[in-house]
Order: sequence, then structure tokens, then C-alpha cells
Amino acid sequence: MPRTRARCYLRRMTDDAIERFYQQDYDEAARLARGAGLLELLRTQQIIAPHLTGNGLQIADVGGGPGVYSMWLASLGHHVRLIDPVPRHIEQALGQQHSRGSVDPVVGDARRLDLDDDSLDVVLMLGPLYHLQEPGDRAAALTEAMRVLKPGGRLFAAAVSRFASTHDGMARRLLLDPKFVDVSKVDIETGRHENPDRHPDWFTTAYFHHPTELRDEVADADFEHVAVVGIEGLAGWFDDLDQRLNDPQERAAILAALERVQEEPSLLGVSAHLLASGVKPG
Ligand SMILES: C[S@@+](CC[C@H](N)C(=O)[O-])C[C@H]1O[C@@H](n2cnc3c(N)ncnc32)[C@H](O)[C@@H]1O
Repeated sequence: MPRTRARCYLRRMTDDAIERFYQQDYDEAARLARGAGLLELLRTQQIIAPHLTGNGLQIADVGGGPGVYSMWLASLGHHVRLIDPVPRHIEQALGQQHSRGSVDPVVGDARRLDLDDDSLDVVLMLGPLYHLQEPGDRAAALTEAMRVLKPGGRLFAAAVSRFASTHDGMARRLLLDPKFVDVSKVDIETGRHENPDRHPDWFTTAYFHHPTELRDEVADADFEHVAVVGIEGLAGWFDDLDQRLNDPQERAAILAALERVQEEPSLLGVSAHLLASGVKPG
């Protein structure tokens, strides 16, 4: 399909509210620079880095946004195809510099990857699973990841915890608004998060996973060695997180503590984000 026709098709396929959120209402490029976003970045790197064995790996960063993870992977010498449906994100990624490896940002959708079978060492999917509300769409994205990975290749897929809006509501006092109480109740009951009034602090159309559901979805896509870990843990809700992360000793202590408890089932839902990993058989 020619690139322009593909772009129209993909834009129709992406929920309008999600595209408007990232294209107009919210600058995703700044999210990982401070506070809970910075902790999410540091922890995600801490979890993924030990698995990046080998030089010049072929990686897809599906739902890669403006490219923070792609640039990090390129700085390690890897070759990254960044795929995202939001044109603003692709433009932001194209504007970034990296010294080693390569980054190729293209408009695309997790459910239909323009990549060859068995061609990648690693797939990052840090976004699509929490923006696809229908189970069939999430399954399609995971099936595509499985298709494009080499046998033995590894998937990392992020989800938002079912309880994230309740915890966020307490931490940022959003629950003082009865409308947000209703939103958070629906989130817990159904996992389907909506923000029809485009409230600036209430995110956009999303799906919030229960940790066991995330594990099941990745296992159902036939991945092996499936594991689910909590990313930010309790520390993600600290009010003074920036101050703590700016102190090297505190930063190291927090990262080490979160690593120690990251697989504890009774704590998984406390994290705002969960990270599932799985290996393609063979
Ligand atoms: C919160 S951002 C995360 C960006 C980046 N991966 C990160 O972790 O910082 C979620 C991303 O998922 C992308 N996304 C949403 N639906 C998608 C889909 N169907 N296929 C691919 N990406 C999608 C959005 O455009 C957005 O860039």
C-alpha cells in the first residue's frame, strides 16, 4: 500500500480521542523527564537492559511515541523501527539526534505491522495494550509482535494497572471531584477508562489491566516464559519523588528496592504501570 493511503487507513483505525489527545492536548515528549514519568523510564530501562544481549540488535518500538526509548536503544548501538499512529510523535522522533545505531520512525499501528516475519530480536510495546480497549485488538497486537520476532526473540509489553486512577486520584486529590470518583469506579469494574470532557489531568481512552489478565493475554498469544513485573511500585505515588530521584543515593535505594519486590503478586496492582515479557518459542 502506498505510504499516503496507508496513513489514511491507520488514522481511521486509531481512536479519534486518542489521536486528539496526543496530537493536540498533551505533549508526550515531556512525560518521562520528571517525577513518576522519570521513575517509569529508569525502571523500564533497568528491567529491559539485562535482556539486550548482543550488538546491533534489530528492535521495533511499537507505540514508541516521540522516541525516548528508541533513542536510548540507538545510543546502545541497536537499530530501531519506531512505529506510532500519531504524526506529531513521528515528527518529534525525526527531530531527535542519536550518535550510534539507527532509528527509523514511521506512522503505523500495532495491530498491523509493516515488518517481515521472524525479523526482530526485541519488540517493545509500551503503549498500545493500554490504548486498545477491545480484547481482540490487544490480541491482534500481540499476534503481530509474535509474527515479527525471531524465534527466541523477546517481547516487552506495558499495561496500565486496573487501580492506577484510584491511586492517582488519592495521590493528586482528583477524588475530591465526584465525577472522577465515578470514572475511577468504572475503571475498577470494567478496565475501560474514558475522558469524554477532555479533562487535562484525566488521560484519554484507555484500557487498564488487572495484572493476571495481562499475564493471560501474553500467554494466550503463545509467548513462553511470561513474566509480569510492577514498574513504579509504591514510589510512583510519592509527592516528593523529584527531590528523591535527584539525590543519587536515594535514587539508587528506590531502584534497588523496587527491583527486589517487582514480581511480588500482592504488590503488582500498586504500580501505575506493569511490564509483561515473553519469549517467542523456537
Ligand atoms: C503514553 S504513550 C507511550 C510512549 C512511549 N512508548 C513511552 O513508553 O514513553 C502511548 C503511545 O501509544 C501509541 N498508540 C496508541 N494506540 C496505538 C496503536 N493502536 N498502535 C501503536 N501505537 C499506539 C500512542 O500514539 C502513544 O504514542
